[in-house]
Amino acid sequence: MSAMRESKFGRHSLAAGLLGAAWVLSAPLAWAQGQVNVICSVQAEWCNLMATTYSRTSGTRVNMTMKGSGEALAQLNAERANPKTDIWFGGTGDPHLQAAEQGLTQDYQSPSLKDLYPWAQKQAKDSGFRTVGVYLGPLGFGMNTELLAKKKIAAPQSWADLLKPELRNEVQMANPASSGTAYTMIATLVQLMGEEKAFEYLRALHRNVSTYTRSGTGPVKAAARGETTVSISFIHDVTTEQVGGFPVQSASPSEGTGAEIGSMSIVKNSPNADAAKRFYEWALTPGAQQFGLAARQFQLPSHTKTPLDPRMPDFKKIKLINYDYAKYGASAERRRLIARWEREVQNAPK
Ligand code: F6P
Repeated sequence: MSAMRESKFGRHSLAAGLLGAAWVLSAPLAWAQGQVNVICSVQAEWCNLMATTYSRTSGTRVNMTMKGSGEALAQLNAERANPKTDIWFGGTGDPHLQAAEQGLTQDYQSPSLKDLYPWAQKQAKDSGFRTVGVYLGPLGFGMNTELLAKKKIAAPQSWADLLKPELRNEVQMANPASSGTAYTMIATLVQLMGEEKAFEYLRALHRNVSTYTRSGTGPVKAAARGETTVSISFIHDVTTEQVGGFPVQSASPSEGTGAEIGSMSIVKNSPNADAAKRFYEWALTPGAQQFGLAARQFQLPSHTKTPLDPRMPDFKKIKLINYDYAKYGASAERRRLIARWEREVQNAPK
């Protein structure tokens, strides 16, 4: 049986809840093989599909909680003395690396590791095998094409374009304390421009930002529904809204951009350690990785045998920086950059 405790995304929580509830009614295998407690940091549809399918096929009850990447890390820290969570699935890789460094997660080497793309294996090595890459996704912008036309604003194609006066209060991004998407953006800008210039940029961008949302997908959902013109988002999340029929398009910043290595970790001293390993192994199989696409999520999966889809980002067309995952996933660096953003940008006058 799958049980949903909390939703990461308000707009999708009803649908997610119904999906979960519908399954509860037809759950014959419940309790047969124990349970596993999962924090899930991808979108609700994907989390639900995994929980439902894994419960059905393994007979293991999946207790799923949805949280943004930064919030998930905060929860693991809060549970440190008495962990309740077994697995943290998805979310940007930087906070998974931070969890590894803080000793919150268990080292484990899957026999499937050799079948993953090099970037996913590197994420595992960088963490002392306390996390592993499950998907890859580039950062960019989303924009509502109808609003751009109506307001006669040219589609932004660069970080510099986002500072234009015509975009005043027309941009949304997430808050880096709760969202891995927003932290990826800050770390990307620091690597692209140098720290002082990056913070100058973020202070200038603040004038154009109407809201800092809690969740990383909040801004693109707002753009899709005409509540903002531009979002700073992972490109695959823009595709999800496009496929859902909304008038959005994505752009990849011409100066260059970063990418996330979405990751998965087993919690140290977790209450259901064997069940955690079984779920982890399953989540790395091509069969399980296909549920991302089935849930209309378009990140690049980490297993080399998981089928790809033409709607997944084409990395050959994106100018990627050489993102230093180890440096920007280090606890001290991540905490320092987020604190600096809170001090200098978040509440600055406009
Ligand atoms: O599920 C969509 C997604 O963008 C993932 O690709 C990413 O790992 C996660 O959400 C980040 O969410 P947040 O920014 O809320 O931490």
